[in-house]
Amino acid sequence: MNLADKISDPIFKKVAEIAQSEQVETFVIGGFVRDLLLDRIHKKDIDFVVLGDGIAFAKTVADKLNKKKYLSVFKNFGTAMIRLNDQDLELEFVGARKESYRRDSRKPIVENGSLQDDQNRRDFTINAMSISLNSTNYGELIDPFNGLDDLENKVIRTPLEPDQTYSDDPLRMMRAIRFATQLNFKISQESFEAISRNKDRIRIISAERITAELNQIMKCPKPSIGFDLLYRSGLLEIILPEIHALQGVEEVDGQTHKDNFYHTIEVVDNISRTTDNLWSRWAALLHDIGKPKSKRFDKNSGWTFHGHEFLGSKMIPRIFKRLKLPMNDKMRYVQKLVKLSSRPAGLAKENVTDSAVRRLVHDAGNDIEELMLLVEADITSKNKKLVKKYLNNFKLVREKLIEIEEKDQVRNFQPPVSGIEIIEAFDLKPCKEIGIIKHAIKEAILEGTIPNEREAAQQFMIEKGKELGLTYRSK
Ligand code: CTP
Repeated sequence: MNLADKISDPIFKKVAEIAQSEQVETFVIGGFVRDLLLDRIHKKDIDFVVLGDGIAFAKTVADKLNKKKYLSVFKNFGTAMIRLNDQDLELEFVGARKESYRRDSRKPIVENGSLQDDQNRRDFTINAMSISLNSTNYGELIDPFNGLDDLENKVIRTPLEPDQTYSDDPLRMMRAIRFATQLNFKISQESFEAISRNKDRIRIISAERITAELNQIMKCPKPSIGFDLLYRSGLLEIILPEIHALQGVEEVDGQTHKDNFYHTIEVVDNISRTTDNLWSRWAALLHDIGKPKSKRFDKNSGWTFHGHEFLGSKMIPRIFKRLKLPMNDKMRYVQKLVKLSSRPAGLAKENVTDSAVRRLVHDAGNDIEELMLLVEADITSKNKKLVKKYLNNFKLVREKLIEIEEKDQVRNFQPPVSGIEIIEAFDLKPCKEIGIIKHAIKEAILEGTIPNEREAAQQFMIEKGKELGLTYRSK
């Protein structure tokens, strides 16, 4: 197969010309080729493999393109990269090698190899295809492992015996699952069995790299494909034991509860249809992690998980820390969504008070919309009628939220009377009464005892102060 027409970007001709004048055989390889054949948009990096010194060749290319300033050399990895800012493109060069292709290997690359050696040592057949940039066969696809067939049949397979490929670089187990999720491919049975056998080798991979793959899985249209594979291969238990613990159904007195693992990954799929926010998807994944610890059975009430949202939100910092996810406002956002994840359901009753709605608006603040998306995603019943009923209930909650918002504006509510004003009003030194009054004003507004207005709040402050035995000094 010749792909000369398909590689139309002038950069390929330029690299080919330089390769010819330098007499270095050069090939395009990896993800670019795969995505070209899939008609899929490839993120802007192109990998070139050269027979010989990859770094030296990259230097020549940078020189001839007048891009020396944009050349980065990674000596230990045996690679070099040229950034073409105007095209938002990165050209990566590597010398063909015999040993496994590892971008961040700490060991210097010593052993040069042939193109076939290099292709042997890549992760998957679909990532091992290359296109020649040499004058004798420019554009020809070199596909020694029938990667093309695997693309057609939607199969992830390793070029070598899978145990070898995965043990060379255990991150590839995560990559296999990530590609299966992104491309909606199946992992070949042989390969999947090898992942299960080698799962413990994942422990030598850094949390950052595992998390980068998890995030890519999470950004897919149907992340459950990946989480199911992680679960069935045994990797999930190692990298996310809290999610693994959700699996299983217990039965007491003929009463069962649902399998919270399969429920959870369905919730992640559901929310992925309504939001691209990665952190809302994380909240969906983690929304029930407090359940195993809060699970109780009682003859009268059956299975209960009281307080699981609170417990779950408390578990999040440890998980974020372990996975090297950001310990900042992103984490607090996930915690908040998990913590509030049962609140909207409580508002779905007809006789719900304004104050309960006001409190939720206040607690969720600007994240109320994403919280509603989470609770709607949380409906996973097979019974269509029931789903419709619950969705309808949330529609009513949404209406109430709008109504209260318009009326009271408590979303990013700042108390209309400040601490300083309280101090001045009663001529106080710092003392606990200030906090008590402040809190009482906030509660009165949320409760609806007084409107969210300055004058009413001041009046309330005076009364509250008197109750506490303070003397009001009018100005
Ligand atoms: N590769 C590998 N083993 C790895 C990582 C990468 O064999 N653990 C090889 C594959 O041939 C891969 C190429 O290096 O195609 C480039 O890797 P990378 O840029 O990480 O991935 P892509 O395949 O380009 O895919 P994507 O951009 O979607 O991550």
